[in-house]
Amino acid sequence: SGFPSGAKKSLLKLGVPSEILEFLFSWVDAHEDCPKIPEAKGAISSIRSEAFFIPLYELFLTYGGVFRLNFGPKSFLIVSDPTIAKHILRENSKAYSKGILAEILEFVMGTGLIPADGEVWRIRRRTIVPALHQKYVAAMISLFGQATDRLCKKLDAAASDGEDVEMESLFSRLTLDIIGKAVFNYDFDSLTNDTGIVEAVYTVLREAEDRSVSPIPFWEIPIWKDISPRQKRVSAALKLINDILDDLIAICKRMVDEEELQFHEEYVNEQDPSILHFLLASGDDVSSKQLRDDLMTMLIAGHETSAAVLTWTFYLLSKEPSVVSKLQEEVDSILGDRFPTIEDMKKLKYATRVINESLRLYPQPPVLIRRSLENDVLGGYPIKRGEDIFISVWNLHRSPKLWDDVEKFKPERWPLDGPNPNETNQNFSYLPFGGGPRKCVGDMFASYETVVALAMLVRRFDFQIALGAPPVEMTTGATIHTTEGLKMTVTRRIKPPIVPTLEMPTLNADASVNLS
Ligand code: HEM
Repeated sequence: SGFPSGAKKSLLKLGVPSEILEFLFSWVDAHEDCPKIPEAKGAISSIRSEAFFIPLYELFLTYGGVFRLNFGPKSFLIVSDPTIAKHILRENSKAYSKGILAEILEFVMGTGLIPADGEVWRIRRRTIVPALHQKYVAAMISLFGQATDRLCKKLDAAASDGEDVEMESLFSRLTLDIIGKAVFNYDFDSLTNDTGIVEAVYTVLREAEDRSVSPIPFWEIPIWKDISPRQKRVSAALKLINDILDDLIAICKRMVDEEELQFHEEYVNEQDPSILHFLLASGDDVSSKQLRDDLMTMLIAGHETSAAVLTWTFYLLSKEPSVVSKLQEEVDSILGDRFPTIEDMKKLKYATRVINESLRLYPQPPVLIRRSLENDVLGGYPIKRGEDIFISVWNLHRSPKLWDDVEKFKPERWPLDGPNPNETNQNFSYLPFGGGPRKCVGDMFASYETVVALAMLVRRFDFQIALGAPPVEMTTGATIHTTEGLKMTVTRRIKPPIVPTLEMPTLNADASVNLS
């Protein structure tokens, strides 16, 4: 009431007509009447010590579904309410951009699909989504199986030698091998080899993660790039990956040129079912830089996320033997030692629920980042253009108001004969793949990938936290990592005896001959 009404009175005295003043001040008055977003106090120091979404959870329990957090000169809105999340992500999504996220990821993803906004995003999304059609995803199932089989061989050796294994890094390599083949037909073969390119991928990933949790953007200081050994390493790694991507694009262009192309909606090239091949065959005539940005984006988006899901799933399973038994029972009866097929995906219902529930307790990433492009109203509170917003999926997924037994890993919370839980049927209290127009394009891919890996691994092995392993604690980059790895002991499973099947087909055939 101080400043606006005082200013209004002075202007009136100066002879400005009151109608004009009413009009000019109407929005200020409106704001004066409106409630102010609760402000979290004295929380800044606690934010720095651990995974940053943990103190945000405590603040959520105190301040509610939307509050402001001041961080030095900057301020953030923390959203943990399903209705507000739905408003930002779906109902008024055009009023929000990726904000800080786009700024942080620019050096590696350029204007790829995750950071891109506006027209660039719209066009690229429309081009890329069709590449992940049903038949493509079905073709990927055998790739998931082959890659997981390579991991099984590795674990088999470790089991024979009685050596413990660090599962987080193995899952990271598994999903890197898968995503390289799936997106641009490149075999990183990282489960077997440590090549320069694999190292380059990790250099770039670590840099992206460190930048996203660093309070000072020192990499923006111009000469820093040239003198910091670390920044030099990052530049070199980026150049190596970009050169390889350019080569892969060129190779793929030649393949497409030589192909007798009959492009259609569910086009898949048998020799090279990659997303890149689909895009080039579809006549996507985008600059190589943009194409490279999109490939790099999918490489990163589809790699660490899936790896983190598998890591935390195996951690959760290590604490719930009864879930493991049910899971193994299902896999034994449906899959046995076969490689999974697309038909199995519908039948592996409990395995799917295990992944659903793991994604509830450990969402990847734990927060979604946005910036308001216009003034808006969130949960009754007016907000200005330019606000940086964190939607805490972690808080939504662990809100005591929304879930029973929040802390408990309970795949049974979703009935097996019910629908797969997603943001729509859970009304934005469950957002494993985001929601609205910016929802993950790889959700089906990732669900199948993690279910295949989970099923094949628990069929063949029992997993336990290794004796004397460091405690499993969380730290953040883009996804939730462990602080010191997930060290496990793997033992080959003693499988139930295979009951010999009678040679029924022959008998039946004979019988039908007799009958006729
Ligand atoms: C976006 C999660 C796997 C490609 C997203 C978003 C989430 C997510 C939450 C929304 C981000 C936001 O709204 O700010 C996951 C999880 C995965 C996974 C948990 C694994 C379990 C994949 C895979 C691919 C992929 C395998 C590629 C094949 C993308 C892309 C976007 C995206 C391109 C950006 C879409 C857009 O902005 O239009 N993902 N993702 N993701 N994801 Fe995934």
